[in-house]
Amino acid sequence: MEQTAIISLNANDVISVVDERLYGSFIEHMGRAVYTGIYEPGHPSAQMDGFRTDVIDLIRPLRVPIIRYPGGNFVSGYRWEDGVGPKTSRPIRPEPAWLSIETNQVGTNEFMDFLKLVDAKPMLAVNLGTRGAQDAANLLEYCNFPNGTYYSDMRISHGYTAPHNVKLWCLGNEMDGPWQICAKTAEEYGRLACETAKMMKWIDPDIELVVCGSSFREMPTFGEWEKVVLRQTYEHVDYISLHTYYTNNDGDLPAFLASNVCMDAFIKEVAGICKEIKKEKKAVKDICLSFDEWNVWYHFKKDCKEPQKWIPARPIEEELYNFADAILIGSMLTTLINNSNVVKIACLAQLVNTIAPIMTEPQGRAWLQTTYYPFLYTSQFGRGTALKTNVAAPVYNCDAGNGIPYIDCAAVFNEAENELSLFIINKNIECDIPCTLQFTNFTCRRIVEWVALDGYAPDAVNTAYRTTVKPRTKSGGAITANSVRLVLPKLSWNMLRISMC
Ligand code: AHR
Repeated sequence: MEQTAIISLNANDVISVVDERLYGSFIEHMGRAVYTGIYEPGHPSAQMDGFRTDVIDLIRPLRVPIIRYPGGNFVSGYRWEDGVGPKTSRPIRPEPAWLSIETNQVGTNEFMDFLKLVDAKPMLAVNLGTRGAQDAANLLEYCNFPNGTYYSDMRISHGYTAPHNVKLWCLGNEMDGPWQICAKTAEEYGRLACETAKMMKWIDPDIELVVCGSSFREMPTFGEWEKVVLRQTYEHVDYISLHTYYTNNDGDLPAFLASNVCMDAFIKEVAGICKEIKKEKKAVKDICLSFDEWNVWYHFKKDCKEPQKWIPARPIEEELYNFADAILIGSMLTTLINNSNVVKIACLAQLVNTIAPIMTEPQGRAWLQTTYYPFLYTSQFGRGTALKTNVAAPVYNCDAGNGIPYIDCAAVFNEAENELSLFIINKNIECDIPCTLQFTNFTCRRIVEWVALDGYAPDAVNTAYRTTVKPRTKSGGAITANSVRLVLPKLSWNMLRISMC
């Protein structure tokens, strides 16, 4: 029997205005993200400051509004003072999070310079592993205090007269994880995060703070960690973090493609905990969610080569993403949009080389992975007001759960353009699915664009020399005043832009 789907939406059924920070990303001093990734003095495309313009040219279209930095696990052992001042005096140190050598040739100021080149704002993490409240406050003073104090004058002496005005800060990273440098119990971390937050907000009351939630949903302390930490920090923080990476470990593609259903449940659980603690505290303000690490990640399960330890730019976690990975990235983005009432910040982890959509060869090319494309289009056209979509679609059962819809969808209305963007995924590996989009309180004028990633083998990949997987323009949608009919190709990611009146 032919499978069909109906997606209905009403212009008045609003989820939320999408916070543009949903399309954030992440650069950590990990692998070749920084060195030979964004920064490679001597590369033919590098500017005087060492940043590679070929990489910048690939980042800019993504329109990432924020970039998280400098870690990740790296931050829990980071001495930020190592990375400021004259480059020739900066110490070279062993870096215990990723077993590499850190040359400190890129630090806070260089990162701020880089952000200007890609038109993004910083989301800085402070070290709450080996360090504490005072160091976090010092870094904030260095970045945001105008002048006349020890650290602000130090910044000025380093050539940065104007404050960096960093408004978004993470209070450590994954502090519940045994792999973390100086991991903490929820009680220990909650107290430290609270005291650090107080000090930081006294120095700059305009900043926003993200407190660490669990490293991932399957952590044994998930749920309890969030409650303990929020009970201690609620008044002083603004967001709680979520991290998740999905893996197509055993090649069970339907189960892998269902992963965003887990992401959705994860978001709802953490949002529920925030509400519970708000009630307990009789608080007025809400704590929103910062999904500041999300991606597909195989942790070298595809290729078990262990790169040499204790070298600079140790080339770890250079994931090669395939077509199926791009489909899941597209679905995860729909999940973020559909939860944009609570998720205000999200960072694709990461941006260059390390589990990234953009890859580089040292001294060579920069190129695009499959996963670049759904992120590109969703970031470009998924800005505006997220609308609820009712999806009546066939479902499937798999190891990840039963009743998984074959179709994922998110809709964002851009009022300025009078344009509705729909992001639709067909997870059915074998069948195209005819789909009717039904609109209420909207009148459709024309299909502006239908772009799809479809027709590739699930394991198709791109390389530095061949962009096999890339989007194509589709035609064939049939439009009336309040509907569009189209056939969603099997295993496809689609973006449809419809002009409305
Ligand atoms: O993004 C890669 C790593 O994954 C980060 O350093 C850490 O926070 C997470 O476990």
